[in-house]
Amino acid sequence: MGITGTKITPSTGTEFTGLKGRQLVDQDVAEATLAALEETGVVVFREADIDDEDLIAFGRLLGNVLPLPMGGHKLKEIQRITRDASASKLAAYREATFHWHIDGTTGEIPDKATLLTARQVTDDGEGDTEFANTYAAYEALPEEEKAQLADLYALHSFAASQLVAIPNPSPEERALWDRNPTRKQPIVWTRGNGRKSLLVGSTAGEVVDLPADEGRALLDRLLAWATQPQFVLRHRWTQGDLVIWDNTGLLHRALPYGPSSTRLMHRASLAGEEAVA
Ligand code: OGA
Ligand code: MN
Repeated sequence: MGITGTKITPSTGTEFTGLKGRQLVDQDVAEATLAALEETGVVVFREADIDDEDLIAFGRLLGNVLPLPMGGHKLKEIQRITRDASASKLAAYREATFHWHIDGTTGEIPDKATLLTARQVTDDGEGDTEFANTYAAYEALPEEEKAQLADLYALHSFAASQLVAIPNPSPEERALWDRNPTRKQPIVWTRGNGRKSLLVGSTAGEVVDLPADEGRALLDRLLAWATQPQFVLRHRWTQGDLVIWDNTGLLHRALPYGPSSTRLMHRASLAGEEAVA
């Protein structure tokens, strides 16, 4: 089966239309998806209406599907993404997803890819998801800046990503966040194949060996650089859409949706495959 997608912007995104549910659980579709992810970072299956079992099965054709702790779903590989506290123990943390980030940066290897499918969308235009291409952003940096970044490391933590959304936590809340590990990662991620991207985002709180304010300023500047309009793709959700992104080469964020929003996404994640170097 020849499967062809349509490019969404010159640098980012491929859209496939017409494939539904179980039709995605297919070796050729998986190969086309992996190729499009590699080339364009984001893959959109419009109104795929894929159920949870098939989402996991499709994920397994793309990589290693991770168990997601506290997913709030009977299947351990599915996490419910919602602000409704009765539907997810993680609801209180969702505000942090309104800030640009990469999933799993505090783990040993950031996630390879994230799969998000819209179970319920809002009709008020809230809760779009944006992606910023950190390969393209790195590529476009002036050469001298690339050289300056080559030996710099940042510290990534859950606390840093929460502080952006909740700047004045109670001591108890802060202590809870700090139970999560801090991870040192290079600012420039170089793949085995030579491709480079910027490893930044809200989990990066400081730069190793730089005074706090200088490190913060550098991280803010790099994030602003990477999220310029020419590197960004915005997805407006229709119920049933499935969006997959190369989490190693793209930042993402949800555009704000309210605490009583009915927006509900189901997420599955693929384990990282290439250690950060
Ligand atoms: C996530 C995430 C964004 C969204 O699930 O990791 O950042 O649009 N989601 O819900
Ligand atoms: Mn995320």
